[in-house]
Amino acid sequence: MDKNAELIRAMIRYDTGMPKQIQHFLKVYEFAHLIAVGEGIREQTRQTLETAAIVHDIGIRNSLKMYGDSDGKHQEQLGPEEARTLLQNLGYPEVQIRRVEFLVGHHHTYTDIEGDDYQILVEADFLVNLYEDGESEKAAEAVREKIFRTKTGKDICTRMFGLKPEA
Ligand SMILES: [Fe+2]
Repeated sequence: MDKNAELIRAMIRYDTGMPKQIQHFLKVYEFAHLIAVGEGIREQTRQTLETAAIVHDIGIRNSLKMYGDSDGKHQEQLGPEEARTLLQNLGYPEVQIRRVEFLVGHHHTYTDIEGDDYQILVEADFLVNLYEDGESEKAAEAVREKIFRTKTGKDICTRMFGLKPEA
């Protein structure tokens, strides 16, 4: 089976009974893929990004169990270990697992974003969260201005939310 499809199926099993989580990560995965292709990101980085996008919220289940919430910081704290276990079981290479652990552990941290995989994961997550959280046009504009860096991500954000083009 295709590697991403295999991982998606494993995440669907992990998120059993949590359709919102499953629909969320599938959308983030597709936007991440679209942005990476639009930006001409090299294959290896795109693979790492897509892997991270599929598992990025894996900390939520344990965060709900331990803290009763899905706070971003709790997710960042609990996610990497869960991601490692899942990816190791599927035979992912160690170097990729390490980067995915880092990305899972930082995907709610918006200072010092370094690397195309990190930047695009954050943009893809915002594209989905702005919609799922019913944020205003103003909020979407602010995020586009402050967080988004890629041309493709900005374009998708502008069109999807019907924003004015950037000044
Ligand atoms: Fe997310």
